[in-house]
Amino acid sequence: MPTITFIVNGEKKAVQADAGKTLLQIALDAGVPMEHACGGNGFCTTCLCKVKEGAQNLTPPTDREEGMGVAGEDRLGCQAVANGDMTVEITG
Ligand code: FES
Repeated sequence: MPTITFIVNGEKKAVQADAGKTLLQIALDAGVPMEHACGGNGFCTTCLCKVKEGAQNLTPPTDREEGMGVAGEDRLGCQAVANGDMTVEITG
C-alpha cells in the first residue's frame, strides 16, 4: 500500500492509499485540501502538484497534462495515478 506524503503550506501529512488512485482521490479521501475546480477532468490546473520524491511511482503524464503545459516536477493531481511511495507538494 503506497504511502503518499503531502506537503500543504509547509506541513507534511503522510497517508496510506490504495494503489491505482489519482493523487486527487487520495488527497480528498484523506481530508487533504486539493482544489479541483474542473471536477478532476484535467482542464483547470487548480490541482497542480510538485512531485518531490517518487515520481517514478506515478503513471506517465497524460495528454491532458501535456495539453495544459504541465511538465517537469509538476503534475495534475487529477491525472497522475500513484502506484508507490512519494512526496508531493500541493501548489495549485
Ligand atoms: S481538477 Fe482540474 S485539472 Fe485537475
